[in-house]
Amino acid sequence: MSGTPATARPMAMDKQQPLLFYPAAAAGSGMRRHRYLTFLAIAAALVASYHILHAPTPSSRYHALFLSLGSNATAAAHLRALTLRPHVAGTEANALAAEYVRAALSSFAFPTRVTPYSVLLSYPVHRSLSLSAGPGRPNSAFSLVQETYPGDPYAAAAAEVIPTYFAYSGSGSVAAEVVYANYGDRKDYAYLASRGVDVAGKVALVRYGDIHCEDMVRNARDAGAAAAIVYTDIKDFGGGGAKGKRKWFPNTRWLPPTGVQVGTLYYGNGDPTTPMWPSCAAGEDCERLSMEELDGSGVMPGIPALPVSGRDGETIQKAMGGAVAPPEWQGGEGAPVYRIGPGPAVLNLTYIGNDTLATIENVFAVIEGKEEPDRYVIIGNHRDAWTFGAVDPNSGTAAMLEIAERLSKLEKKGWRPRRTIIVCSWDAEEFALIGSTEWAEENMDMLASRAIAYLNVDISVFGPGGLMPRATPQLDELIKEASRMVPDPDDPSHTLYDSMIHHNPPITRVAGAGTDFAAFVQHIGVPSLDMSYGLFSEYPVYHSLYDDYVWMERFGDPLFHRHVALASVWGLIALRLADDEIIPFNYVSYTSELEECTKVVEAGCPRCPVSFTPLHKSIKQLEKAATKIHGEKKVLQAEKWGLNSRQRTLKVREINDRLMMAERAFTNREGLVGRPWYKHMIYASSDQDDWGTKAFPGIVSAIANAKHLNTTESWRLLQHEIYRGARAVSKASAVLDGRLT
Ligand SMILES: *[C@@H]1O[C@H](CO)[C@@H](O)[C@H](O)[C@H]1NC(C)=O
Ligand SMILES: *[C@@H]1O[C@H](CO)[C@@H](O)[C@H](O)[C@H]1NC(C)=O
Ligand SMILES: *[C@@H]1O[C@H](CO)[C@@H](O)[C@H](O)[C@H]1NC(C)=O
Ligand SMILES: *[C@@H]1O[C@H](CO)[C@@H](O)[C@H](O)[C@H]1NC(C)=O
Repeated sequence: MSGTPATARPMAMDKQQPLLFYPAAAAGSGMRRHRYLTFLAIAAALVASYHILHAPTPSSRYHALFLSLGSNATAAAHLRALTLRPHVAGTEANALAAEYVRAALSSFAFPTRVTPYSVLLSYPVHRSLSLSAGPGRPNSAFSLVQETYPGDPYAAAAAEVIPTYFAYSGSGSVAAEVVYANYGDRKDYAYLASRGVDVAGKVALVRYGDIHCEDMVRNARDAGAAAAIVYTDIKDFGGGGAKGKRKWFPNTRWLPPTGVQVGTLYYGNGDPTTPMWPSCAAGEDCERLSMEELDGSGVMPGIPALPVSGRDGETIQKAMGGAVAPPEWQGGEGAPVYRIGPGPAVLNLTYIGNDTLATIENVFAVIEGKEEPDRYVIIGNHRDAWTFGAVDPNSGTAAMLEIAERLSKLEKKGWRPRRTIIVCSWDAEEFALIGSTEWAEENMDMLASRAIAYLNVDISVFGPGGLMPRATPQLDELIKEASRMVPDPDDPSHTLYDSMIHHNPPITRVAGAGTDFAAFVQHIGVPSLDMSYGLFSEYPVYHSLYDDYVWMERFGDPLFHRHVALASVWGLIALRLADDEIIPFNYVSYTSELEECTKVVEAGCPRCPVSFTPLHKSIKQLEKAATKIHGEKKVLQAEKWGLNSRQRTLKVREINDRLMMAERAFTNREGLVGRPWYKHMIYASSDQDDWGTKAFPGIVSAIANAKHLNTTESWRLLQHEIYRGARAVSKASAVLDGRLT
C-alpha cells in the first residue's frame, strides 16, 4: 500500500531529470559510468518494484498494526470521563478537562506541554425576556431554562450548565415591537423592506437554519434592529410532526421544546483583544486592544441578542400580527401561522454580559520524528464545550486520545515516525477558535516553514451518515486511499470509502471556517483537512443542554464503532503523512478542483466586462508543475536516477519541500480586502457566496460588489482580484516546479 508501483506510466522527462537536478552526478561521469549507473538504476527499479508489490515496507506494517488496534471501549471511556460536567472555556471544569487530556497523553509516555493564554471571553450575568400582546398590555416572562427529563443522570450537573446566551452580545435593555425575519439572511431583510416593514428600532425575531448566529445578529444590526432573538424552530430541530405526536430526546434524537442553541457573536478569529498577533499568558505583557477600540471596530454585534427555545419562538409567533409571511418562512405542522409584524407583540429584553480576560489552555503531546524531527504533522481537536460536549467536541477528543493510545502501542513495538507528530487539544474554540488561532499566530513562521499538514477533527461522530471529509485538494487522494483501508462501522462488507463516495461531492473544501483549521489553512497556508462521521442534520441537539453522553450512546454511536472508524482513518492519514518517504500529496487533483471552481465563479458573472483568462492560464501552469513533480516522485521511487544515499536523501527532502510549500504560495501578505487576517486566496469563508462556489473568496466578493455598483472602478477591482487569484496560483506552480525564472 505504501508508495506507488514502479511499473506505472514512465515519464518522458525521466532521462533528463538527474542532469537537471543533480549536475554533480552528471559532471565528470564518462559514458561507461553513465551506462553502469543506468544499469544500476534499472536493477534498483526492479528490486524496488518487487519490494513494493510483494513485501510491505516496515512503516506499512506498522500502519496495518495501527488499524488493528482500535478499541471502542477506550473511546467510550474517554468520552464518558470528559463529559461528566459541562466545561465552558475559562472555567474550572475545563481546566480539569485539560488536566485529564494531559494526564492521558502523558500516561502513553509522550512528552506533554500546556500553553496558557489570557484571552477575552464573555459570560452572561443577567438575562430577562418578557412578551406582551402590545404596548401597555400585561407582560409574561419567559423562564429561559432548558428542562431536564425524569431520570436524567445529568440532571444535577445540568445546574452547572451556563445560562443560555450569546457570547459577546451587547449589554442593555430593549422593549420594542417584534419583526419576523425568517432565517435572518440579507435577502430576508430585503424582502421585509419590499413589503414596507421597517426593522429600525425593532426586535428582530429570526430562526436558526441557514447561516451562523454571528451573521444573523450582524444582519439584524445592519438592518437597524435594536435587538435580536434567535430560536430553534421545531420544524428544523424538533423533528416536526403534529402536536401531541412529537417525540424528542431522550426518546428520539430531536431537540426538546425547551432546548436552546447557544453560540458566539464575535465576528473574527482568535482573542478579540489581539486581532492580528498572538495573545499572552496572565501576568505577561502583550499589546491588546482596549474595550473602547473593540466596541468601535464593528467586530462585536453591539446590540443585545438572546437565543431562545422552539417553544418560546412559537409563543412569540402566536402574538404577531401584520401580513402573513411567505410559505418558505412558515413553521412545520401544528405551528401557528407566522406573520411578519411589526408587532403588535412587544418583547422586553435585558441582557447584561461580562466580557473579561480569562485563562485558557492548549494541551500538546509531541511524538518526535526520527529522521525529520523538524517536519510537523499536526492533529488537533478542541476540548471546550458549550455544555457537556459529548458530540461537540469531545467525540473528537475521545477519538484523538484513542489514536494516541494506539500510537503508544506502536512505539512499544519499535515504531518511531519519520517526521514529528504533534497532538493538540485546543481551548476556547467555541468563542472564536481562540486557542488554535493564538498558537498558530505565535508560531506562525515555524509552522510556515515546517508544517506538513494540519488534520482537524472537531466532532468525530454525528450519527450514521458515513465519512464526511473536507480538505485542501492535494489531500484528496490520500483521503481516498486511507478510507479504503477502514471497514464501514455500519456495514463491514463495505469500507468508509464506499459511504463517502455516496455523498455529493464526496470531499468538500475548507472554505467556511467554524472550526480550528482556519488559522492553519486560511492564515498560514498549511494543507488541512477536517472530518467527521455522519451529518450535521443528524445532530439537532447541537450546542444545547442535551449534547451529553446519553444522547451519544442512544443516537450518535451506540457501540462506539463509528468513533473507532473515524479514529482509524484520521490516524492512518497522519501516519502516512508522517512516515511516507515522499509526502503523499497530489496537486493534480488541486488543478481540476480549481478549474471547476473557476467555471462556477465565471458562470456567476456572465457578460461581465472582465477576463478570466489569467486564472485559466495560471491553472494550466499549475497542472504542468503538478504533473512534473508527480513524475519526479515516481522516478525517484523507481530508483531510476542512480543517486547515492546522500544525494537521494537530499533529493527526497527537496521534492518534499516543494510539496509542502506549494500550499503556502496560495497566500498573499495583504490578505483579502477588508479582512487582512485571511491570507489564502483560494479558501476563506465568504458571506456573499450566493452561487455555491467554495473557492476564490476575493473574486466572489468583488463580483458581488461590481454587480451591485456597476461602476468602472468596481469592474477594475474585480479584474484586480482575478489577477491576484491568478498570481497566487502561479506562485504555487513555481514552488511545485522548483525552478527560478
Ligand atoms: C422591561 O423589563 C424590565 C425588567 O425586566 C422592567 O424594569 C422594564 O420596566 C420593562 N420595560 C417595559 C417597557 O416594559
Ligand atoms: C466579570 O468577571 C470578572 C472576572 O471573572 C469579575 O472579577 C467581575 O466581578 C465580573 N463582573 C461582573 C459584573 O460580573
Ligand atoms: C464495543 O463493541 C462490542 C462489539 O460490538 C460491543 O459488544 C460493546 O458493547 C462495545 N462497547 C461499547 C462501550 O459500546
Ligand atoms: C451595467 O450598466 C450598463 C450601462 O451603463 C448596462 O448596459 C449593463 O447591463 C450593466 N451591467 C450589469 C451587470 O448590471
